[in-house]
Amino acid sequence: MNNQLLETQLNDNSTQNKTTGNILAIVIIVLISLTIWWLFPISDPYVQEVLSLEGNKTRGEAIFQVNCAGCHGLNGAGNVGPSLLNVTKHKSDSQIIKQVISGKTPPMPKFQTSTEDMADLLNYLHQL
Ligand code: HEC
Repeated sequence: MNNQLLETQLNDNSTQNKTTGNILAIVIIVLISLTIWWLFPISDPYVQEVLSLEGNKTRGEAIFQVNCAGCHGLNGAGNVGPSLLNVTKHKSDSQIIKQVISGKTPPMPKFQTSTEDMADLLNYLHQL
């Protein structure tokens, strides 16, 4: 009788252990996915397409003069906006693209331009 009770308790314990194990496994999987997502944030199809294009510096410069030079200076050395010289050394391409298209850093406006134009712009920023 006592043995039976003990066995039931043991069984209960092992079911509980399995449940805890499953929850732990799920938590670990979620943490790993979050880490991967954090390490490789380039999942946006727009960003991916821009990055896959070569970009043309001369076109990029023209686009820059029209849309960006008012704030960032004719040669990107800065005016109302910060200097963009060497910006590609402290910001990744995807960060720059997101900053330009998001409008999340006012007063810089949102530039929702074609992927082609963005690739040209990015190419120009790399030469600054
Ligand atoms: C109305 C003024 C304005 C215009 C126009 C503008 N910007 Fe900006 N930009 C800013 C300001 C201000 C910041 C700083 C925002 C912040 O970090 O909070 C900035 C930041 C940036 C940064 C990040 C700089 C860094 O060192 O982190 C990049 C890259 C950039 N702009 C690119 C562009 C490009 C490319 C264009 C044209 C398509 C453009 N900006 C047009 C005002 C402007």
